[in-house]
Amino acid sequence: MDPSKLNRREFLEKARNASVGAACCGSLAWLSGCAAVPFAEFRREGNVLRVSRAEFDTAPGVLLRTTEDPMPIYLHRHTEDRYSAVLTRCTHQGCEAEPEADRIVCPCHGSEYSFSGEVLRGPAERPLTRYPVSVSGDQIYVEVGR
Ligand code: FES
Repeated sequence: MDPSKLNRREFLEKARNASVGAACCGSLAWLSGCAAVPFAEFRREGNVLRVSRAEFDTAPGVLLRTTEDPMPIYLHRHTEDRYSAVLTRCTHQGCEAEPEADRIVCPCHGSEYSFSGEVLRGPAERPLTRYPVSVSGDQIYVEVGR
């Protein structure tokens, strides 16, 4: 498409997408290159998602895409044996929050959460939805749904 023929809406959309990409590269500098947080493979066993520890070989956190919610779960490794899992749906107005170097940030109005889901900065007032996580051997278990 000839850029000179963009209408105002198309131009603003392209500019917004370009700035989101630039922000991504800056905020995810803890990852190699400008790759997004990786999606991990997992095995579903009833209400439990079983994830291999090997998924954390290249990143401190991974995303899990389930069928229950269009937004992924972020699974973060705090230490070798301590993990947390939170739904990335912002509790303010429902945008998808994004893991960054040291927190999870909502791009819509700037709410910030710890990797465990606690609110660090509003306007959100409630923590992210959390899921129980346990570790056994080389597997991590995330309990979803009840
Ligand atoms: Fe996340 Fe408003 S929807 S801060």
